[in-house]
Amino acid sequence: MSAGLTILRARREGAEIAADMSPQDLAAAVASGSIAILKGAFDPAELLRIRAEVLAWDPVPGEPDTSPGAPSARYRGDEPPGTHIRHVFESYYFAVDNPGDAMGSALRAPFALLASFWRRLTGGVHDFSPGPDGKSIRPWIHHYPSGGGHFDWHEHPLEPTKIGMIVSMSRIGVDLDTGGTEFKTPFGIVDTMSHHDIGDVCLFRYDLSHRVTKVDPDRERDWDGRGRWTMLLLVR
Ligand SMILES: [Fe+2]
Repeated sequence: MSAGLTILRARREGAEIAADMSPQDLAAAVASGSIAILKGAFDPAELLRIRAEVLAWDPVPGEPDTSPGAPSARYRGDEPPGTHIRHVFESYYFAVDNPGDAMGSALRAPFALLASFWRRLTGGVHDFSPGPDGKSIRPWIHHYPSGGGHFDWHEHPLEPTKIGMIVSMSRIGVDLDTGGTEFKTPFGIVDTMSHHDIGDVCLFRYDLSHRVTKVDPDRERDWDGRGRWTMLLLVR
């Protein structure tokens, strides 16, 4: 393990995620630019169930509208021409605070667990509905399909998300063999591929440049199962 990558065990304490390091020390490690991977924060069986629910869901695809009150939505990007950052992924946005939105409501609990952990680490106060500053936590699932799913280098402003969180929903060696998140850290490039297995949460300082390398590019494109599935949230 290098200074650029901190690997810890995680567990569930009541309705919270706890790591083998205090939230203060963990936040400080991430603020220094180190990537942290918390092993076993989520139950793999629950994540596989979520994947199946999302695949069975059949919304009208289109550019997701993430404004308050908008429904859950799906967007498929397959090297769209003229795009700013090259990508092949399917991205699902969930309106978890909208009781009339069956898909969003069904996924509220796991995203609430992640959001609570985010608030503890960052001191942030945001939730899924807009706060006084008009910003809210946006819950997403990204699927980088087997057969070349990827997302090229890009970065985000540090504020207000501060710490990015990526939950792996895919089993290394079963759902994918290659394709993982890489970060440009002050300690050099950190490739999380071989460490970020199903149930693990990857934490990164939100302004670090990052990309998802190609998922099993020699296989046939599979939008319906194989590949790297991730749960993530951001504040906007
Ligand atoms: Fe990103």
